[in-house]
Amino acid sequence: MDKLMIEGGVPLTGHIPISGAKNAALPLMASSLLASGKHTLANVPRLRDIRTMQRLLGHMGAESEHDDQFRIDTSHIHRPEAPYELVKTMRASVLVLGPLLARYQRARVSLPGGCAIGARPINLHLKGLERMGAEIQLEHGYVIAEAKRLQGATITFDQVTVTGTENLMMAACLAAGVTVLENAAREPEVLALAEYLGQMGARIRGAGTPQITIEGVSDLKPGSYTVIPDRIETGTYMIAAAITGGHLTLSPCRPEHLEAVTGKLKAAGAAIKVEDGILDVQAASDIRSIDMKTWPFPGFPTDMQAQFMSLMTLGNGVSLITEQIFENRFMHVLELKRLGADINLDGRNAVVRGVSSLSGAPVMATDLRASASLVLAGLAADGVTEISRIYHLDRGYETIEQKLEAVGARIWREKDQE
Ligand code: EPU
Repeated sequence: MDKLMIEGGVPLTGHIPISGAKNAALPLMASSLLASGKHTLANVPRLRDIRTMQRLLGHMGAESEHDDQFRIDTSHIHRPEAPYELVKTMRASVLVLGPLLARYQRARVSLPGGCAIGARPINLHLKGLERMGAEIQLEHGYVIAEAKRLQGATITFDQVTVTGTENLMMAACLAAGVTVLENAAREPEVLALAEYLGQMGARIRGAGTPQITIEGVSDLKPGSYTVIPDRIETGTYMIAAAITGGHLTLSPCRPEHLEAVTGKLKAAGAAIKVEDGILDVQAASDIRSIDMKTWPFPGFPTDMQAQFMSLMTLGNGVSLITEQIFENRFMHVLELKRLGADINLDGRNAVVRGVSSLSGAPVMATDLRASASLVLAGLAADGVTEISRIYHLDRGYETIEQKLEAVGARIWREKDQE
């Protein structure tokens, strides 16, 4: 298993190109199941999760290639199922459930298990599909769903769920009648999906607000779309500038997707400006400790909580970080402590007392964003940080070492001898 080695202490300077958003590309790929034919997506990042979704769609009969564009032909779907082997490596596989049921009237999708950041059930996806007339059974670890034709319904989510909103929005496109999703997720990835579905012929209003209305149509046509820049990758590199005392420019980006992150980083002292679509982040001489709570969009994203915590480990005071989306998303805390961070955990709260420096040590990545937080801490730490289990990082950050090396980081990958 590969390890990532980082010799910290270099202020990063220069430009980092931002890739397409993984969490936008995955639902777009799943939505290709809604219309038979050839779809084209541009700016799809080359990541392990993207390859997993590609394999999953291939398992169902889709043919695809990923070169400068991602092209997929869904003319011959013959097996509407998502097997455990693929779902267990990527929970977003559940995004095929809505499209399969809407278009093929049945779906067999493995239940995702627990994961490193929380229980993450899919009860809200299933409840919504049942409201639309699906019959759902759980058998041998699989969701078996059937419906003649889904019927429009009003569905109020008990809790804001991103992939739940996406799954039901996709399903509703081919349902009979009107579906209204209340308390829907407002994440930019939901809006991007709605735009793409609209291009395929779907009738969707209100995406990007808590109420989405979908008027079902009898069929959709294949579309083409360019994936939005990854706001979490952008935010991670914004913190790379702030934590190393550096100065980075980042593009392409959509600053309106990053307002909460920008606000917090400015409060922590960083100078941030946007010029000609380029985000410019300059570190302060001193990192101010500030509090932060995660919220659904437009609040501060849970996917940036771990990285923000790394920054706060070097703050000039005490920071209270509250995780409100996932009950167990603090796996990075023990690893950050190995680097010398002073953090106390109490339920969903982490009290981070700033230290004057971190010191490099061997640490272990536990999930995607936790891994990113360790990279950031390693970039700022004295000496060498050795991060194992970096396959997590490869799920969500395209060519991370090359991007960081190009702005001055001393970072390299080593093959594990074991
Ligand atoms: N929840 C339920 N029941 C459901 C669905 C969700 O209780 O049926 C709960 C979850 O357990 C969690 C909360 O609702 O406590 C919100 O979860 P959500 O459903 O929004 O998460 P998700 O859709 O599974 C997506 C991203 C995650 C990101 C979250 C929150 C994708 C593919 N994944 O997950 O991204 O953390 O939204 O913003 O879009 C990542 O990229 O590292 C990542 C984990």
